[in-house]
Amino acid sequence: MSSHPSQITIPKDASRLPVTLATIGERHRLGQPLVMVTAYDFPSARAAEAAGVDLVLVGDSGAMTVLGYPSTVGVSVEEMLMLTRATRRGLRTPFLVADLPFGSYEESDELAVRTAVRFVKEGGADAVKLERGSATSVARARAIVQAGIPVMGHVGLTPQTSVALGGYRAQGRSAHSAVRIAQELLALQDAGCFTIVLEAVPAAVTEALMDLVEVPVIGIGAGPATDGQVLVFHDLLGIREGRGARFVQRYADLQREMDEGVAAYAEDVRARRYPAPEHCYSIDTDELRELRAELSALLGRRPADG
Ligand code: KIV
Repeated sequence: MSSHPSQITIPKDASRLPVTLATIGERHRLGQPLVMVTAYDFPSARAAEAAGVDLVLVGDSGAMTVLGYPSTVGVSVEEMLMLTRATRRGLRTPFLVADLPFGSYEESDELAVRTAVRFVKEGGADAVKLERGSATSVARARAIVQAGIPVMGHVGLTPQTSVALGGYRAQGRSAHSAVRIAQELLALQDAGCFTIVLEAVPAAVTEALMDLVEVPVIGIGAGPATDGQVLVFHDLLGIREGRGARFVQRYADLQREMDEGVAAYAEDVRARRYPAPEHCYSIDTDELRELRAELSALLGRRPADG
C-alpha cells in the first residue's frame, strides 16, 4: 500500500498557474509523473483542484459511476456535456479533457470534429479523448487535431468496445496482441495525440512499449512504467459497491460513510432527535404573541394568554 495524505489540502501555492499543453510537455521532459483523475461534477472537480492534479478527465465512466448505466455505451453527448460543464465550473488549474461518448465520433471525420467542437465550446473542455487505435479512430483523432483541438488517445482495454474485446479484461497478454497495441500507440501519436491512455496491460508489456512512444502515456492498470497515472474518482474514494478492478488503490471508503450518514439521519428523524433547537430559526416573542392572536382570530377563538 502506498503512502498518501490522510486528508486533501489546498496546495500552498495558491497562485498555481493553469496546466497547459506546454506544462504537460515540460513535466514529461523532466520525468515528473503526470497525475490525472476523473471528475463528473462540481464537488469532484473541487477535490481535483484542491489536490493540484495535472489533468482531469470527464470520463464516460461517469455513465456508470454517476448516471447508473450498466456500461459506458449508452451515455449521450448531451449527458456528457452536462457533466463536463459542471466539472468545468469546479476547476481553475487542471487541464480538462472530456471523453467523446460511443457513437459520437466513429461515423465520419465531420461528425468527430463537430462533436469535439461542442465539448470545447459548450462544455469548456481543453481537449477530448477518444477510444481505440483502429484506422477509424486514428483518422478521427487526426481530423480533430487538424481542427485545432488537442486529442488524448486510449488503447489497451477500451470499455466502449469491450464486447468486441471479450469483456473487461486485460489486453496485450500475447506477443501478437501487445504488438497491435504498439502499432496503435504509434498510429495515435502520428495522428497528433498529445497523450495516450493505456489501460489494463501487463506491466512488463508497458515497460517494453514505453521506449517506442514520445508523447506521454498515462496508465490505468498498466503498471508503474507509464509517464502518469489515472484512476476513476469513485474507485479511488470507494464510492461504489464492491472493490472493482485489481489495479484500483482505494484511498477512502466514502460509500460506507455515505450509507452510514444517511442511515443516521433517517434514524434521527424517526426518533424526533432531528431537528434540535440549534437547527431552528427564532422569532421575537412579541411577534410570536401577535401571530398567535391573529391565528386565534382567524379561527374565531379568544387569544390565549401569554
Ligand atoms: O472513462 C474513463 O474514466 C476513462 C479512464 C478509465 C481513462 O476512460
